[in-house]
Amino acid sequence: MTRLRAVVLGAAAGGGLPQWNCGCANCNAARRGDIPPQTQSSLAVTANGEDWLVLNASPDIGRQLAATPALHPTGPREMPLKAVLVTNGDIDHVAGLLTLREKQPFSLFMTPGIAGVLAANPIFGALDPALVPRREIRLGEAFEPVPGLTATLFAAPGKVPLYLEGDEASLVTDMEGEQTVGVELAAGGARACYVPGCARVTPALAARFSGADAVFFDGTLWEDDEMIRLGLGAKTGARMGHMSMNGPAGSIAALAELGIGRRVFVHMNNSNPVLVPGSAQRRAAEAAGWTIGQDGMEITL
Ligand code: MLT
Ligand code: MN
Ligand code: ZN
Repeated sequence: MTRLRAVVLGAAAGGGLPQWNCGCANCNAARRGDIPPQTQSSLAVTANGEDWLVLNASPDIGRQLAATPALHPTGPREMPLKAVLVTNGDIDHVAGLLTLREKQPFSLFMTPGIAGVLAANPIFGALDPALVPRREIRLGEAFEPVPGLTATLFAAPGKVPLYLEGDEASLVTDMEGEQTVGVELAAGGARACYVPGCARVTPALAARFSGADAVFFDGTLWEDDEMIRLGLGAKTGARMGHMSMNGPAGSIAALAELGIGRRVFVHMNNSNPVLVPGSAQRRAAEAAGWTIGQDGMEITL
């Protein structure tokens, strides 16, 4: 039976919860076991329950696959993971490709722009192209990464990966193009969107999300200046290409009236107070109809 099924492999943003070098309250609470740890940004989806597409290959993918029985090997070298799609070239979304190098066939999907980023980095040659073909998909072009699942890429305002930023003066943090994309997924009459990085909700994005059965959306920060206030860094969310959850310009407001079935935050930075069960911010997000994604969470549409 064809049914769209999604498993959050990793609910955290780059760094994870706890992040190795972070002594913030959330990271310390996760180390103590007081709040659930979360691995880095990834979602697995299937339409037939057998063949899986992994959206973004995080540095934690080894642990994520081990923690997900549906993705365990089914034979000596047989894997339910048949395809990987990356939504940008950020380290938290591509570094896990290097873990997937053990002579295992799968298809790797991305825009031509992201393919160019990988092609420019010889370390990804570790993935033998005879086993791991790189399939370039244009924006708006529907394709079938695994049987029964239709996927379409669309531009999400964002920026190039940190390691390609170049000089500050010419950096655009909400560029719309092939560098940062969202994915529309359809199977069995259900439709979901996955957008782990988004600088703002444009009218085109709102139209795409409208009426979707589920939207998995960028939950990096609660407030734009959160990392600065907590002494964790000098950057705002806007500078990082991420809109925040709270406030009139936030994602909670932007997706409030679009008739979306399930709204799920993913890609939470470890500074985000919604990672604390019972926090005022988490209660506010939940009262607004959102689910805070967490590792292992499964949704069938
Ligand atoms: C982001 O989501 O902003 C990036 O993953 C940051 C990074 O590349 O470290
Ligand atoms: Mn990220
Ligand atoms: Zn932290």
